[in-house]
Amino acid sequence: MFKTRITELFNIKYPIIAGGMHLLSRAELVAAVSNAGGLGILASTTFETKEELRQEIQKTQSLTDKPFGVNLNLFPMMRPRSVDEDIDIFINEGVEIVESSGASPEPYVPRLKETGVKIIHKVPAVRFARKAESVGVDAIAVVGFECAGHPGMDDVPSLILVPLTADAVKIPVIAGGGFCDARSFVAALALGADGVVMGTRFVATYECIAHPKVKEWLVKAKETETVLIDRSIGLPMRVIKNKPAEKAHEMDKRGASLEELLPVISGELGRKAWIEGDIDAGVVSLGMTVGRIHEIVSVKEVIQGIIEEAKSICECLNSTLFT
Ligand SMILES: Cc1cc2nc3c(=O)[nH]c(=O)nc-3n(C[C@H](O)[C@H](O)[C@H](O)COP(=O)(O)O)c2cc1C
Repeated sequence: MFKTRITELFNIKYPIIAGGMHLLSRAELVAAVSNAGGLGILASTTFETKEELRQEIQKTQSLTDKPFGVNLNLFPMMRPRSVDEDIDIFINEGVEIVESSGASPEPYVPRLKETGVKIIHKVPAVRFARKAESVGVDAIAVVGFECAGHPGMDDVPSLILVPLTADAVKIPVIAGGGFCDARSFVAALALGADGVVMGTRFVATYECIAHPKVKEWLVKAKETETVLIDRSIGLPMRVIKNKPAEKAHEMDKRGASLEELLPVISGELGRKAWIEGDIDAGVVSLGMTVGRIHEIVSVKEVIQGIIEEAKSICECLNSTLFT
């Protein structure tokens, strides 16, 4: 069921990917997604030392014998080590799939491909998808305005971006930003995608290490309760509304610099919110799908639920539209 170019490329059962999530995509969540038939993606820059990253990759390998990937974070950031050092670890630990995002992966593609690593590059615009295809990545994940993380500067929603990208490139396309259930999964396939990448939906699962208070906040939030910040520094990020988010949004409108924004948006404060449940401590990236997610469930329930209901939707559409 739901075999696509993505299930073939990555040798997975269902074309459902849990995108890498800084702080949250650790071994338990990643393995749970892969064990349920999807593709889990481990975070990398979350781990301060090389040894911690190595151990988390090994832990994931011990929890699943199914394929999983690791996120290669190319965003401008205070990184614990160089991109090349991360790639050394991936190669030495036998990582087979990399999800890159944040800048062109061009400098790193030859080395990854030489060792047989498959690359998904995540982009927020068609022009970046074309560029990534031209430098040899294996699949494109395209994320619309609705997404958690970084939706880019163009403010184009997934309903527009996904079909445009599917038409623009020949390699498989994964739709991200606003996908969280069977209805949006079927829609993604109808738009020309070969699968979906979801972040926000997987935060509200038992296996995610986010603090229970953050998960409760997520499932109660409405679709209007996220906001974009950091546009003034050229790197918009969607976050759920809390005191620091509203402050950063206001500062953004005044064109605040990175130095001005840092005391409000720092990763350390975000960590306090995510992990300690101090929900007004820092900014918390979540997508507009918060308004469509009402339950904390297991990863297996998310994936199995999507697949079973998607099948019913397709059958129902078939029988009601073609009788
Ligand atoms: C808490 C959180 C952290 C994220 N961190 C990253 C990251 O470090 N790198 C990345 O490429 N994407 C990151 N993302 C984006 C997701 O991988 C995914 O592309 C996005 O969540 C899809 O949109 P959705 O939230 O509407 O499902 C993050 C998302 C969330 C919710």
